[in-house]
Amino acid sequence: MTTFFAALFYFATAVLVGGLAYRISDYARTPAPLKIPTTPAPVTRGGVALRMLREVTLFESLFRSNLWTWAFGWIFHVGLALVLLRHLRYFVEPVWGWVAFVQPFGVYAGFAMAAGLAGLWARRFLVARVRFISTPSDHLMIVLLLAIAGSGLAMKYVAHTDIVAVKAFTLGLVYFDWQPLPADPLVYAHLGLVALLMVLFPFSKLLHAPGVFFSPTRNQTDDPREHRHVAAWATRLDAER
Ligand code: HEM
Repeated sequence: MTTFFAALFYFATAVLVGGLAYRISDYARTPAPLKIPTTPAPVTRGGVALRMLREVTLFESLFRSNLWTWAFGWIFHVGLALVLLRHLRYFVEPVWGWVAFVQPFGVYAGFAMAAGLAGLWARRFLVARVRFISTPSDHLMIVLLLAIAGSGLAMKYVAHTDIVAVKAFTLGLVYFDWQPLPADPLVYAHLGLVALLMVLFPFSKLLHAPGVFFSPTRNQTDDPREHRHVAAWATRLDAER
């Protein structure tokens, strides 16, 4: 099983990194022919950076459009971020001071993450218009993330696993010095589901994470009168004529 999981993680990492690099370069090359920032919009580049910062840390536009979705979505994402920071302890030795500092917050964040996901999933059943447009993949992503959080919390609170051995395994992956993975069904489930998430990521709706930075309604300055907006490909056409 150790060999299987080691190979699985190298494969999943390659798909995640390669897939994301491809998607991001694709987004970066996609032309934005029109000036379409959602107004009121910033008129300077600095203002746009600040707007983007508020969007990715506070989910500002979602807050304005739907308070319930915002609350569950924000709690889930902040919980996930803290959980991931807590997990850094498995990948570095010695553990950095600030990673040690976030450990207790990371535990509560696991519950917050699961609660946020439960709310987002309930919304897909309880709100008629959202139920109507929900696809199997919308449900699948929520179930997958819930199962990852559930198996993680089960290892912490129900059946402890040998986390020293898990850390030896992950450090072994990083340094290409493979160490045995504990033969524990919960570890297999947790890591198998994480690998599945990594492989699906570049092909899924989860691409909204890098995608938000490329959204013209959010990343454009409101200056069409000061500067004529010409897309890069249109400039090339002008030059050829
Ligand atoms: C998307 C990625 C992941 C998510 C969302 C996730 C989520 C969670 C959550 C919510 C917990 C319970 C709270 C806690 O103890 O931190 C947990 C525990 C755990 N996770 Fe993960 N996890 C992820 C990736 C991984 C990876 C890559 C490993 C491999 C090292 C791992 C190993 C563990 C272990 C060993 C525990 C039990 C900790 C303990 O008993 O104290 N997780 N995970």
